Amino acid sequence: MSDTFVPTKTDPGAAEAARTDDAWWRDAVVYQIYPRSFADGDGDGMGDFAGITSKVPYLSRLGVDAVWISPFYVSPQRDAGYDVADYVDVDPRFGTLADVDAFIAVAHAAGIRVIVDLVPNHSSSAHPWFQAALASAPGSRERARYMFRRGSGPDASLPPNNWHSVFGGPAWEPVGDGDWYLHLFDPSQPDFDWSDPEVAEMFDDVLRFWLDRGVDGFRVDVAHSLVKAEGLPDNTVMRDIQGAGGDRGPMWDQDGVHEIYRHWRRLLDEYTPPRILVAEAWVHPADRMARYVRADEMHQAFNFPYMLSGWSGQALRETIDESLAANHAVDATTTWVQSNHDVVRHATRFGQADPTRWVNGIGPDDPQPDQELGLRRARAIALLTLALPGSAYIYQGEELGLPDHTTLPADVRQDPTFIRTGGAEIGRDGCRVPLPWRADAPAFGFNETGASWLPQPAVFGELAADVQEDDPASTLSLYRAALRLRHERGLGRAALEWNESPAAVLDADLGDVRMIVNTGSEPVALPSDARVLLASVPDAVAEGRLAGDAAVWLDLRG
Ligand code: NOJ
Repeated sequence: MSDTFVPTKTDPGAAEAARTDDAWWRDAVVYQIYPRSFADGDGDGMGDFAGITSKVPYLSRLGVDAVWISPFYVSPQRDAGYDVADYVDVDPRFGTLADVDAFIAVAHAAGIRVIVDLVPNHSSSAHPWFQAALASAPGSRERARYMFRRGSGPDASLPPNNWHSVFGGPAWEPVGDGDWYLHLFDPSQPDFDWSDPEVAEMFDDVLRFWLDRGVDGFRVDVAHSLVKAEGLPDNTVMRDIQGAGGDRGPMWDQDGVHEIYRHWRRLLDEYTPPRILVAEAWVHPADRMARYVRADEMHQAFNFPYMLSGWSGQALRETIDESLAANHAVDATTTWVQSNHDVVRHATRFGQADPTRWVNGIGPDDPQPDQELGLRRARAIALLTLALPGSAYIYQGEELGLPDHTTLPADVRQDPTFIRTGGAEIGRDGCRVPLPWRADAPAFGFNETGASWLPQPAVFGELAADVQEDDPASTLSLYRAALRLRHERGLGRAALEWNESPAAVLDADLGDVRMIVNTGSEPVALPSDARVLLASVPDAVAEGRLAGDAAVWLDLRG
């Protein structure tokens, strides 16, 4: 696993070449920055743009092609910024518009593209439009921009239908005059009514505002929910955002959403170099999801089925085949993602007693995961994720092998899911903990003051970036080496050809690299002439065999 670092993005020639490749997104490695928790420049305990900009050299050295930044707009932060009160200004917690401009300039100079988050399904209840709606009468123009409906029952005292919020409880809130408003998420996140032309016009302006500032694309929040079924019928499916098996429910994946994305695509296509749209759409099965990335719609959609496949060779392979086929049918590339700010980090998921089990957060009263095993498997799946054809997403800190904080006390939790379900759902705080940059510093180097909006677990000290920096066996070194090789060998653009293997093993040729991942616990034989380019852990290969829960990239070059 020795790796001599070769800069890929710090050399201005390489940066320029990266910027002029029009199809850059088809195999891009995109790094998700969750601004609250990435790096804190002003020491108030919450990350900010000063912090983000200071880490561009780190991102450059890691070798990513782009960053996606979760919302940093003006917001009361009831859902960590996914409740936007002003779409065209920066929340003072994170900095100013000038700070964003400065960041974009520094990132671009390093050859790193910038994707920002767009939250079009709902605003914050603090948005001036919603405040105006509350101050206006039922049936008014001001209310037409949101989903206000009269309550049911003789005195309108019951919700208009039976829909539930994704965060728990009913999806309707009464406003005291017989009207109720829809909120698929928190009551502080009223849903827009996308049949109102003013809503569409406002979002055109928002897109242009950020495109004109130089952003390279948008990650579109809950892209499958903007249009609801005509007449808002009762939900007979009763599934939430992760509803599977094509059971869509009247609030998800309605055909009308595609018109919105066709319109946005035309708007984006006015810009050069090309800008992209990435769908966050929890839609099943794969061919339904592929509808979002048809040639005249978005460019990419997060591959959540891959994330949900657990540590299972067979499930992973089935998902890989299905996603490649569905996206190939519409000439889109596939994305590969294992973690983000909404799910338990995969280094923790894979350390559970059942690594295929899906949980919404882990708390102090739950069985605690095996961190060592989880990290071992997380390193192995990195060599799968970063080898597959298409684009890969890395969630901040996964390159350090970070686990979730699984013992956060109830009184520090901030996720509305935890609060709205009375703790029945632990929620997402555990994966959102501020990053450790320096082992021997306050808040592990998240800032200089030691303040941190969520406490960090002790293990973050061992996993801090500075501890891993010069250790060739570290997870950080593994990611750097994998990204360098991916770039050099054209992984991401190579066709995948499976080799015959036992069910627990994923074995494929990708151009002149052979990738073998062993999800079983027993070693498997490697080809006798195997030349190892990269191994997921130092003990991955012994006596011609690949150990359990490990992966390798082999050199097929003659
Ligand atoms: C998906 C986002 O990723 C999540 O964090 C948020 O809570 C919901 N959408 C609502 O905006």
